[in-house]
Amino acid sequence: MKLAEKLGLAALHRFDPETAHGLSIKALRAGLAPMPGPVTSARLATEIAGLRLPNPVGLAAGFDKNGEVLTPLSHAGFGFIEVGAVTPRPQPGNPKPRLFRLTEDKAAINRFGFNNEGMEVMAQRLANRPADAVIGLNLGANKDSDDRPGDFAKVLAHCAAHLDFATVNVSSPNTEKLRDLQGKAALGVLLGGVIETRDALPRPLPIFLKIAPDLTEAELQDIADVAVETGVDAVIATNTTLSREGLRSAHKSEQGGLSGAPLFEKSTRVLAKLSQLTEGNLPLIGVGGVSTADQAYAKICAGASAVQFYTAMVYGGLSLAAEIAQDLDDLLAQDGFDTVAQAVGSKRGDWL
Ligand code: FNR
Repeated sequence: MKLAEKLGLAALHRFDPETAHGLSIKALRAGLAPMPGPVTSARLATEIAGLRLPNPVGLAAGFDKNGEVLTPLSHAGFGFIEVGAVTPRPQPGNPKPRLFRLTEDKAAINRFGFNNEGMEVMAQRLANRPADAVIGLNLGANKDSDDRPGDFAKVLAHCAAHLDFATVNVSSPNTEKLRDLQGKAALGVLLGGVIETRDALPRPLPIFLKIAPDLTEAELQDIADVAVETGVDAVIATNTTLSREGLRSAHKSEQGGLSGAPLFEKSTRVLAKLSQLTEGNLPLIGVGGVSTADQAYAKICAGASAVQFYTAMVYGGLSLAAEIAQDLDDLLAQDGFDTVAQAVGSKRGDWL
């Protein structure tokens, strides 16, 4: 991390976390961002669900909820970017405060509850997106919707023309009963509707499913079965956790989803289990607690074709994206891998 970025982060941490996040979006809009440009090599370039990525290190959903900083993010070194979550209608989310830094634990707890400007605004911003980036949208449902499963298809249909992929997010802990949509029957209906909508698009795009880390093996098996049956293109494992194990920070008892370092092991175990259950046949994206190239590499070796991260940026800045991708290239080379794909799942057994 450069000195200027270090100072910037120290200044941001004097504000409450949600204000600090708003300021970092403003700073990006003003062009105050590391811009290493594309990070790629023959080893890092990879593919997931037909999408060609310059490198496998992506930005997780929730950072750019409203698609405000697509262009600066596209220059930050990420291999792909997921924006959102977006719901059909705008909604304010939960009362503040709703984002907490757990500095000693290198973690965060959030209970935003899908605050966003809605799909109309998102579609307008996406219409001006940079063409040379891989950009996906995290789909959500309105809290007061009487047809939550239908909401996902609605947002997809409205924004698809400007997207490379879309993610069905049924794993946020902050919208009451949303996670119930992960149950076998409900998930089958929801995904069936989304895939039908996708198939009717003039230019169909891959659909990903994002799951929670707090699932039993039986629940994971059900999800794997439904994902394969309905034709989901990849699964993102995982969203934030309800667990509070091993935390030290003052805010550890706040309600919401925990992200960052304490999530690493748990989310990687879920990833490896899912890889085992699907026998490596369903592409997986690993997310949860990644802050170094070693951890990105560990997720790849556990079964991920690509990874994402978010919370580590709160502590390490945006320059982490390029750093992780570049260092990952070295790690792959050291172990004799010519491509990311060769390493996928190579140490899955270590996590089972
Ligand atoms: C998130 N995350 C998230 N996920 C999602 O699918 N839709 C969303 O809208 C959000 N919003 C969101 C807001 C905030 C403030 C955080 C910290 C996280 C979850 C995120 O994409 C990721 O799955 C987890 O945070 C775990 O990864 P990290 O943060 O440990 O790298």
